Amino acid sequence: MKAVGVHNSLPVTDANALQDVELPTPKASGRQLLVRVRAVSVNPVDTKIRMAAGSRLEFPRILGWDCAGVVESLGGECSLFKAGDEVFYAGDVTQAGCDSEFHLIDERLVGHKPKKLSFDDAAAMPLTSITAWEAMFERMNIPRDPKQNQGRSILIIGGAGGVGSIAIQLAKQLAGLRVIATASRPETEQWCKELGADVLINHREEIAEEFQRVGEAAVDYILCLVGTAQHWRSMADVIKPQGKLCLIVDTEANQPVNINLFKPKSVAITWEFMFTRSRFQTPDMGEQGELLNEVSELLDKGVLRHTRTEHFGVLNAANLLKAHVKLESGTMLGKLVLNLP
Ligand SMILES: NC(=O)c1ccc[n+]([C@@H]2O[C@H](COP(=O)([O-])OP(=O)(O)OC[C@H]3O[C@@H](n4cnc5c(N)ncnc54)[C@H](OP(=O)(O)O)[C@@H]3O)[C@@H](O)[C@H]2O)c1
Repeated sequence: MKAVGVHNSLPVTDANALQDVELPTPKASGRQLLVRVRAVSVNPVDTKIRMAAGSRLEFPRILGWDCAGVVESLGGECSLFKAGDEVFYAGDVTQAGCDSEFHLIDERLVGHKPKKLSFDDAAAMPLTSITAWEAMFERMNIPRDPKQNQGRSILIIGGAGGVGSIAIQLAKQLAGLRVIATASRPETEQWCKELGADVLINHREEIAEEFQRVGEAAVDYILCLVGTAQHWRSMADVIKPQGKLCLIVDTEANQPVNINLFKPKSVAITWEFMFTRSRFQTPDMGEQGELLNEVSELLDKGVLRHTRTEHFGVLNAANLLKAHVKLESGTMLGKLVLNLP
């Protein structure tokens, strides 16, 4: 089968950073599905692993953790899907990614593709939806019932990116929260408003000062998607006493943060890493498949909208490299996809 892989960790400016490769088509066993990949999306994790691939990983390392496709065959222990089912999923970062014609995936991590969405639009959704959903509804335990959230608000830092674009919708449409989102450009600000954000502030300014500028009161929840260390002090300023903060991005070694800032307000700080369940094979890893099925229904009902904004053409090394360039620029608005004809 055709695939795109990483042989060596090279900067995105190097034309050889990603390479077209030919690999044996894998065979499904146990709880694995073999999926014929129809479309993939790209996330910052792809660029991070491309740059970290040098040391301990097998070569070529196949990236890609956002897939929409069709079940081709199944391992003997599968019970949730049948051949021909249309599926979408993010997958397992410890395994080969989906930038290939066929891909093996544990069925517990897989959801039924939204019927009303094309493969391209569906491929934009899984990784970011899982991240935003787990962060808000599981790690911060935000009720999904708007009646329970009356008067409550959330700050979403990095509102127009992949995760922010679905997080705004989940916070607004499912939880009924007042949503304060951050964006730094007119087009990303407009996009966040279209997705349901009530108030926009600029993350290039000090967020606490932005709250004063727009006259916004302290928030119950903060979902910090970009710039953990940069926004640390402001987050301590603008969160309510006994509020909850969820982080998804590491701080750099040269950017220590002072956790004590949150003690006076008894803030609960939690992490979300959407690969935790697959990486540790937790007993509840099937929750990700269930979660994707719920997202799928919400997309079909029109409660949520897909977040694909760009198409980078057919999946090959040259086009995928252009996608990595875009992701590394830090200016994504929504999601981009590539397809397999
Ligand atoms: N832990 C997990 O499970 C998990 C899952 C998914 C992603 N992640 C990580 O979360 C981060 C975000 O992912 P993503 O897919 O949403 O990325 P993305 O789509 O590349 O995010 C792009 C957005 O970031 C905004 N941004 C840029 N600099 C910012 C800053 N200093 N402060 C706030 N926002 C800023 C930009 O807004 P403007 O253009 O308006 O400036 C842009 O819209 C990445 O580091 C990714 O690796 C973690």
